[in-house]
Amino acid sequence: MITILVCVSPRETTALGAFVGISGQRPTGTRATGQRVNALLTQPHNNIMNRNKGSKANQWQDHYTRRAQKENYPARSVYKLAEIQQKHRIIAKGDRVLDLGCAPGSWLKYAAEQTGPGGTVLGVDLTPVTERLPSNVRTLVGDIHQLRANAAEAIGQGFQVVLSDMAPSTTGDRFGDGVRSFELCQAALAVADELLQPGGRFVCKIFQSEDFKAFCDQVKSRFDRMHIFKPQSSRKASREIFIIGLGKK
Ligand SMILES: C[S@@+](CC[C@H](N)C(=O)[O-])C[C@H]1O[C@@H](n2cnc3c(N)ncnc32)[C@H](O)[C@@H]1O
Repeated sequence: MITILVCVSPRETTALGAFVGISGQRPTGTRATGQRVNALLTQPHNNIMNRNKGSKANQWQDHYTRRAQKENYPARSVYKLAEIQQKHRIIAKGDRVLDLGCAPGSWLKYAAEQTGPGGTVLGVDLTPVTERLPSNVRTLVGDIHQLRANAAEAIGQGFQVVLSDMAPSTTGDRFGDGVRSFELCQAALAVADELLQPGGRFVCKIFQSEDFKAFCDQVKSRFDRMHIFKPQSSRKASREIFIIGLGKK
């Protein structure tokens, strides 16, 4: 039997009897301005590569991690979404956004800043989000594969944006990790098929593998335009890359 948990705060949960946990969080009382969003993107990062401490990859990670801490985001992945937003304008004011693989919550926070209080952001993850988020953000605790089966029933339709930053726990087995990433992308696309409005936008992280082209083709067939995007804030050595679908048919 699957159980629905409704969380009225990150620490309180009530069993309801179906899919996943839903969590509403208190307002943080502050919201980033457009100026701050631009600041997210314009801070220089070139100089970090010249320091003579640790590996370049570690310096890179440390730089973005420190910056995320300073700017009150729970993860450095926020800068990848910020770059995508700057280039492709995925999220508009008032949008309804679904964020798959949302923990620890930096994309949720950034997306809520982009929609403004007139929009809503719903996140889903295996792991509960404990970060304090604006009042227009809700989170569900659950597995995307379960959500896929009854998505509309569990969370409703009519999203303008579906984001997926989901990643499998990596094992170092490039082939296996690639297969698991592809499976998560398939699940994200199935959810987008069901819940995204015509004209809607889709962003999905994938580990490049043999299935990469097949996934690009699937996105191409469902959207007016498909883009492949590697953010600067994503390590060059990482096989992650983002597929963007614009204008759902
Ligand atoms: C890179 S993290 C996401 C970071 C997030 N975008 C942020 O900025 O805070 C990837 C997330 O995918 C989630 N995930 C992996 N498999 C999942 C699944 N089957 N269903 C739901 N979430 C999943 C993981 O629990 C993890 O929190």
